[in-house]
Amino acid sequence: MSKPIPATLIPGDGIGPEIVDATLAALDALKAPFEWDRQIAGLGGVTAEGDPLPKATLDSIRRTRLALKGPLETPSGGGYRSSNVRLREEFQLYANLRPARTIIPGGRFDKIDLVVVRENLEGLYIGHEHYVPINGDPHAVAMATGVNTRQGSRRLLEYAFEHAVTTGRKKVTIVHKANIMKALTGIFLETGLDLYESRYKGKFEIETVIIDACAMKLVLNPWQFDMLVTTNLFGDILSDLVAGLVGGLGMAPGANIGADAAIFEAVHGSAPDIAGKGIANPIALMLAAAMMLDHVQMPDLATRLRTAIDATLNLDKVRTGDLGGTGNTASFTKALVSRIVNG
Ligand code: NAI
Repeated sequence: MSKPIPATLIPGDGIGPEIVDATLAALDALKAPFEWDRQIAGLGGVTAEGDPLPKATLDSIRRTRLALKGPLETPSGGGYRSSNVRLREEFQLYANLRPARTIIPGGRFDKIDLVVVRENLEGLYIGHEHYVPINGDPHAVAMATGVNTRQGSRRLLEYAFEHAVTTGRKKVTIVHKANIMKALTGIFLETGLDLYESRYKGKFEIETVIIDACAMKLVLNPWQFDMLVTTNLFGDILSDLVAGLVGGLGMAPGANIGADAAIFEAVHGSAPDIAGKGIANPIALMLAAAMMLDHVQMPDLATRLRTAIDATLNLDKVRTGDLGGTGNTASFTKALVSRIVNG
């Protein structure tokens, strides 16, 4: 028996509890040794305790330094600040790793194997915004400040370049908009090129591309890319685009990594339009759980989980509606668990 690994579990909002239950069923079938401490956040936190990020949740992650998290709802426009952003800040989870790999062959884009590494703490995402009222219009002007630092860019780029080397990536593309935001994204580009020249030259190929051209190239020929590394907002947008190349948000996992803590989640949100219907695709969160298993040095279990997902989709042909199937969360999970247990 492996030693129990304490970990925080946040079921989250909307479809969160449904996909978290499905993922726990898979992890139980694998006999993954996580010792879960269940906590709340997001809308669930507001409803239960009047706080989208209750102290008990923060204390739990302070203790475990490891969490699996369902999506958390954030109101648009007004309302409370994103609990996801606050969690990333609190635990200095500076790297957001979002791999996208084709699991179901024969789609519009086949054989995709890409990873987006997104800076997770800086840029326009910091939410330093305000309105300027003019002539009685309280929202006459809206302003936002973006902040990128040399140090913040460097540690993210170092993480990305190290990840490229250890996972055998052949090419890293730095995505920027330094032609227009010369300082804000120029610092990221400059830091990346300096770091490559000084420490990584020859270990992989480097290229740079402007975000708008990158979006077009990803749709025309995504196979030209291997790893994309970029600032916070661009990474947010590109990782959804890349998820679309492999079948949509239901297939896209993410890891938020810091120096001494990590939180694993799906790229997608709480999907309020389908919450409670039992039709959500749990694969994105399951793939995040596989990343979590890799993170705790249990690559065999991670591989078993990924292999079982592959077999359930392609051999058993059990698929949820977003993948064009007639299955639901429960039927997919049942077939997956059977694959894990029986091979
Ligand atoms: P969303 O990702 O929740 O949904 C976008 C579309 O994809 C919807 O049509 C939804 O039904 C579909 N979808 C998403 N996940 C799916 C799954 N597993 N299976 C099948 N279909 C799926 O994005 P939306 O609607 O913009 O955001 C809803 C809420 O989620 C917002 O409050 C937002 O702030 C929050 N959010 C939270 C995130 C997190 O916790 N990491 C990330 C993104 C959004």
